Amino acid sequence: MTQNAIILGATSGIGKELARMFCHNGYVVGLAGRRTHLLSELKREFPDSTFIKTIDIAKTIDAMVQLNELISEMKGVDIIIISSGIGFINHELQWPQEKDTIDVNVTGFAAMANIAIHHFLQKGSGHFVGISSISAIRGDNDSPAYNASKSFISNYMEGLRKKVVKSGASISVTDIQPGFVDTAMAKGEGLFWVATPQKAAQQIYNAIQRKKKHAYITKRWMFIGWLMKMMPDFIYNRI
Ligand SMILES: NC(=O)c1ccc[n+]([C@@H]2O[C@H](COP(=O)([O-])OP(=O)(O)OC[C@H]3O[C@@H](n4cnc5c(N)ncnc54)[C@H](OP(=O)(O)O)[C@@H]3O)[C@@H](O)[C@H]2O)c1
Repeated sequence: MTQNAIILGATSGIGKELARMFCHNGYVVGLAGRRTHLLSELKREFPDSTFIKTIDIAKTIDAMVQLNELISEMKGVDIIIISSGIGFINHELQWPQEKDTIDVNVTGFAAMANIAIHHFLQKGSGHFVGISSISAIRGDNDSPAYNASKSFISNYMEGLRKKVVKSGASISVTDIQPGFVDTAMAKGEGLFWVATPQKAAQQIYNAIQRKKKHAYITKRWMFIGWLMKMMPDFIYNRI
């Protein structure tokens, strides 16, 4: 039976490549993001297997209605992926950039997760996937809101996982933590182990198929994750 998936943040980068991968693998895919022309462009690649919906997840009241509309138009979905996210290098700790990051990555994420989990609880099954980041592991001086927002996402998903396990429903929750991926989001100097969006999407797709609870993307970022967790403050605060 054909499976349905929704990808929020499908207009570019990781989300766009994931959308292509799901379409190539026979899924019907709901594509969402703010840039309608890019959603239409992607739909032209897969006219028969895509739905599109313009959604700005920072405008939570409208966005929650719009995500529910998309779910209804697709007659229910099996997988919902939130790839939407923003981040800034914010040396000057400018409040507008901190606030925008929290509005999208925290409030917007939680609002979309809320609709997703309620939909899956109602149908008794489903798979919720959030794109967090390796940045979730520690705070950062250059992007404090971004790292904290990703920490929120990973912690929130752990809470949602515990909730669905206790519900007894057949619902999976997958926390994806990428390192660097070559997209508009990858900013700053000294980037290393930068994956192509295609490679990242392939590894994320595999983790979803295996219903993994957590995956580093690419896999070798596990070592950086381990290092970041172990590093004492007196070293971490100097790098
Ligand atoms: N690239 C990396 O190195 C890296 C590393 C770790 C984690 N990540 C995470 O991966 C995810 C995807 O990022 P990317 O690297 O693929 O960068 P990207 O190409 O900039 O993609 C970001 C996506 O988020 C969407 N988005 C932003 N604000 C939104 C809003 N208010 N409402 C709805 N959608 C919104 C964008 O669509 P519209 O602009 O059309 O709305 C776009 O599709 C992000 O959550 C990011 O934090 C990326």
